[in-house]
Parts: sequence; C-alpha cells; structure tokens
Amino acid sequence: MAPDGSYARWAASELAASIREAAATTTGPVSVALAGGSTPRPVYESLAGTSDVPWDRLEVFFGDERAVPPADPESNYGMARAWLLDRVPIPTARVHRMKAEAEPLPAAAREYGRALPQALDLVLLGIGIDGHTASLFPRADTLLVDAWVAPALAPDPPRRRLTLTPRALGRALRLIVLASGEEKAGPVARALTGVWDPIRCPAQLARRGTWLLDPASASELPTELYAGGERRHGRGA
Ligand code: 6PG
Repeated sequence: MAPDGSYARWAASELAASIREAAATTTGPVSVALAGGSTPRPVYESLAGTSDVPWDRLEVFFGDERAVPPADPESNYGMARAWLLDRVPIPTARVHRMKAEAEPLPAAAREYGRALPQALDLVLLGIGIDGHTASLFPRADTLLVDAWVAPALAPDPPRRRLTLTPRALGRALRLIVLASGEEKAGPVARALTGVWDPIRCPAQLARRGTWLLDPASASELPTELYAGGERRHGRGA
C-alpha cells in the first residue's frame, strides 16, 4: 500500500462513489456487505471521513466472519465498528452482525441467509495470497453449497467461519475488491487473467467486479489491463 496512505484515500473515494451510485438507483435501503482482513482498515478510516455518503440509506452486512466474539481482535465486525461504523451515523439496527461464534454454526448460517436481501447492492471483498475471497477458500466444500451463507473452515486460525457463498456473490449487483501490496500481485493476476477455475481460485468469482488496486498489487497484470497509478479495473474502469 502506498506509504502515504494514498491508496486508502483513493479507494475510499471510489467506494463512496459506488455507494452513491447504488443509492441513486434504488429508493430503498442500500445493502452493503463489508470485507474483513487488514486491507480495508485504512480504507474504512478514510471512508468514515468522506463527505457526501448517504449513511442513512445503508443496511450493513458482512461478507464473512470469524467464530470469535465481537470484541475479539480477530473479529471483522469489531474491526469495521472501530474504523468505520462507530464513526458514521448508521443506526445500530441497520448493522447486521454475522454471529459466527453461535452454535450450531449451520443454524447461524441459515439465520443470516434469511436476513439478507434477495440481491446485495454492493459486496466489498478482499483477496488472500492463496486466491481466497471472503472465507471461500480453494477447493473448499463451501464453494459448492446451495445456500446464501455457509460455515467455512480457514486453513489458518481463527479457522471456523461464516461466509457468503458463490451463490450470494453471484446475485450481488456490485462487487468491489480491495487489493494492495506486492504480495497480492500474483493472486490478483490469477484472479483477473488466469484460466477460469474458481474452485482453485475463488477470487475469480469477483472477476466481473471492480478491482481497486495499487501499483504493487497490479504489477503482474498485462499493461493493456493496467496503465499505472492507482487503478479501478473493471466496470467503469
Ligand atoms: C477475512 C477476509 C478475507 C480477507 C483476505 C485478505 O476474514 O480475512 O474476509 O477474505 O479479505 O484474507 O486479507 P488482508 O486484507 O488481511 O490481506
């Protein structure tokens, strides 16, 4: 990520524009599923300070969650609260936490699936160095589940998770992927230009989306796909 934080500010402004675009195309709530991990953190912090975001229209969901309490440092909900949700005027009732610590996990998955709209207006995703996205890991059974939300098992702790499924991602109206840093260059290139194989590279499920890349994470893309600087690759690129 650009040391001066320019990626975070740029990505936040792109995200704000996408939220405004979604709000302009519907009269109801704008359903947004937030990503976890570390990349979104500075983007959320910058987004919280961005003007002209219709916070009162948002209905907030999560793309995935670890099986930990909200106060746990590993909680995606806790991270989003700290860096974004506690800093903007979104009513608590419009924030739908994924209760991945609940037991039994399949019932928690079904309950969260019932809370989702038919099609999320915007799903924010990251990409792992193994090509996963949300908690859809390579060759995982979760990739074949006919549901909106499913339990997942990550290769690294915290292992037990809940995640949106490929079916939920497929129904989303907009997908936005955040990727910055050299270590994401290979996974990004594989996701965007590799042979189509979403079982081995689940982030390919977001190929149709908008990828917010910095020069480092875009550095293995062919030049016709990426012309340098911070780049919005994909629809509206
Ligand atoms: C999670 C995320 C996960 C994340 C990627 C990238 O719960 O960890 O949903 O899919 O987006 O692993 O993580 P970083 O942003 O930390 O590289």
